[in-house]
Amino acid sequence: MTAHDPEQLPRLTDAEKVGLTAGDGAWKTDAVPRAGVRSVRLGDGPHGVRRPHEGAGLSLFDSHPATCFPTAAALGASWNPGLLREVGEALGREATSQGIGVLLGPGVNLKRTPVGGRNFEYFSEDPLVSARLGAAWVAGVQSTGVGASLKHFAANNTESRRYGVDAVVDERALRELYLPAFEHIVTTERPATVMAAYNKLNGEHCTENRWLLHDVLRTEWGFEGVVVSDWGASWDRTISIPAGCDLTMPGLGRSDDRYVLGALAAGTLPRDALDRAAERILALAARHGRAGRRFGLRARQPVDLAAHHELARRASAAGTVLLKNDGGLLPLAGTGRVAVIGRMAAEPRFQGAGSSHVVPTRVETLLTALRQERGLEVEYAVGYDGDHDSATDAQIAEAQRVAVAADTAIVVVGLPETYETEGVDRSHLRLPGAHDRLVRAVLAVNPRTVVVLQNGSPVQLPWRHDAPAVVEGYLGGQAGGIALADVLLGRAEPAGRLAETFPEHYDDHPVSRLHDGPATLEYRESLYVGYRYFDSAHEDVAFCFGHGLSYTTFDWSDVEVVEGDGGDPAHPEIEVRVTVTNTGKRRGVEVVQLYVHDEESSLFRPEHELRGFARAELEPGESARLGITLDRRSFAFWNPAGGGWMLEAGGFELRLGRSSRDILWRGRVDLAGDGGGDGDGDAAVVDAASGAPRPDPYRSPSRATGFPAAAFEALLGRSLPPNLPDLPGGFTLDTAIRDMQGVTAARILFRVMHRQALKTLGAPPGRAVDEAAGDVVAQLNFRMLPTVSDTLIGRRGARRLLRVVNRLAKLGGSARKGRAARRAGR
Ligand code: BGC
Repeated sequence: MTAHDPEQLPRLTDAEKVGLTAGDGAWKTDAVPRAGVRSVRLGDGPHGVRRPHEGAGLSLFDSHPATCFPTAAALGASWNPGLLREVGEALGREATSQGIGVLLGPGVNLKRTPVGGRNFEYFSEDPLVSARLGAAWVAGVQSTGVGASLKHFAANNTESRRYGVDAVVDERALRELYLPAFEHIVTTERPATVMAAYNKLNGEHCTENRWLLHDVLRTEWGFEGVVVSDWGASWDRTISIPAGCDLTMPGLGRSDDRYVLGALAAGTLPRDALDRAAERILALAARHGRAGRRFGLRARQPVDLAAHHELARRASAAGTVLLKNDGGLLPLAGTGRVAVIGRMAAEPRFQGAGSSHVVPTRVETLLTALRQERGLEVEYAVGYDGDHDSATDAQIAEAQRVAVAADTAIVVVGLPETYETEGVDRSHLRLPGAHDRLVRAVLAVNPRTVVVLQNGSPVQLPWRHDAPAVVEGYLGGQAGGIALADVLLGRAEPAGRLAETFPEHYDDHPVSRLHDGPATLEYRESLYVGYRYFDSAHEDVAFCFGHGLSYTTFDWSDVEVVEGDGGDPAHPEIEVRVTVTNTGKRRGVEVVQLYVHDEESSLFRPEHELRGFARAELEPGESARLGITLDRRSFAFWNPAGGGWMLEAGGFELRLGRSSRDILWRGRVDLAGDGGGDGDGDAAVVDAASGAPRPDPYRSPSRATGFPAAAFEALLGRSLPPNLPDLPGGFTLDTAIRDMQGVTAARILFRVMHRQALKTLGAPPGRAVDEAAGDVVAQLNFRMLPTVSDTLIGRRGARRLLRVVNRLAKLGGSARKGRAARRAGR
């Protein structure tokens, strides 16, 4: 690690300081060779290293090959920080070899809804799982000298209108759910950078949100690194720098620097804000920058790609979840006839679409892996078309023919890229209809059918009661196919546990019943995210949080609660210990989960919350004594009245389980509380008409009650901001293009941008890709124009264009009205 020279800043001119605060193009910071300031190369992230070829700009496909590790969805299901650290180290080595000083990851946003288009890039619906796994990933990457970029800060939980939508989140939900993973990683691992998200949070863009970046991140958590904008998220440095966003990526060119310099001279950009930002970037460059030619690929260090592939294979099996295994159908015997059915067995989907896309060093498919098994006789049927939405009768008949003749049928289905991508959310949880049809057809002829899923987020499984075995393979990376073979054949344990709930249907999920835009996203469910909702509302789910079966069996014994408060009851430290014994015949993995239930509280609390977990990998007959530690925070809630964490005196139930719904042991502790005074109590919800108290939806959440606006306003402590569409003529920089579709000028702009996007991203041709890219572009707004036009249109140009579109929209509106009036007069 190179310490940065404190004398460097005073040696820089104003122009050089300003230059440092924005990228030199899309992927590097500015170097100042005269003053010995190096340039830092940044690159995606997070499940593989993407270094675009020179001149490839923002292309997602034109990049140097790198190991494609399993996506965060799969790694999240491993519940295995040790493994995440190993993956982080490997990523760090590959980043170094590609000359990348800061790797853009991990993504630790919560999976607030199962339809989030980017859920594959996030770990969990639970902040503790995200925090622990994200921290291990950062520790691994940074141990190699490469910096991490914790993203996307904050409340960036959906993709719809992601560039301008305002996430309206109450303070408790922020403090107890959406911020803790960031807080934990910032305070324990000190990531080199934090990436400020595109969206607004409670009225202000994250890149301009002083409360978020200055008050919380820097002052409360002590973050000393660089805050970097998500790509295009910072609109005007004279606003974002004073708010605490140091580095704007990509850079918007020298004319933008001149504008910032002008603001400095005029005093609208405070000098000390610029100095502080520049100082932090200097420190980043000293630590993670490269000088001169060493910056390029010449700096490549050899990497053991074969070893990384093997690690990717192990990691993929570790994140594979055995959802169902009736009658012990799995693992397969390793001999006999196996029908492998479904195009995804031969053309797998193994990573997510969007900025995290990497060009893999190699890809192993399930079909090839099974064909290489000596004892197996494998027959393959494609099952559905390449577009995934259709299957011919002949394809289904062929699938049934090979299934009938086989001892076991393996059907591979999932979500194609057109269903799930960064930039767009799904609107349902269904698999392609042709996939469901295929599963049913195979089940009808062979009851020994294993369904294997390839998807980055939960799907609805309408046939799940009829399928004896279901394996969730997630998007398992370049070695996902061989890892699936390892699991199906019992060479590897399916060690994953769901880090998210699989609802029966999307409309069971509370978020499905809330408005999604156009201006705001009201997080009305507050703390009731994922299992916190389903377990509190006692609603059925398909597969619950924490669920996952093993090939072996375990016994739990000798649970012990050890209280060691060090003489200070206000700061309890409690350890729950349990002995886990492998009572089966195979090596296997057990994940012990500890949930805490507050018996009585002055503020509402979910039924229970995960507060710790421990994992053991044991040989048959082997035992391990596991300990899970709880601290004050494990029992406390955020008290909005006092603006701090509060531990209220009383009883808490400790629940040890294999999932949130499979609790094997319960115990209780009484805590003294910290005497900080009671939480104010929940505000009473009254009926507007009668003035009578209404059942509090936060005390007893249910599908029937939902989360009404009045109750949420009481929680927020303010009225909800308007959530209306911007009218033609009144579009703002934040209005998404999809919300301007009635306006001809906007439609033309959309077409131009769509064409440009396909070119810039270098997407392979195809109607489905075309449509998906269109959906992504439709989320863009005028704020993003300078970035997506590669500075062809600057900030002033974007504003001018917006004015033109508004004027034309108004004219169009009057012309429409005129035509309507003439028609009415006729
Ligand atoms: C994504 C980031 C990514 C960046 C650079 C953005 O669109 O939101 O996660 O790191 O692009 O590719």
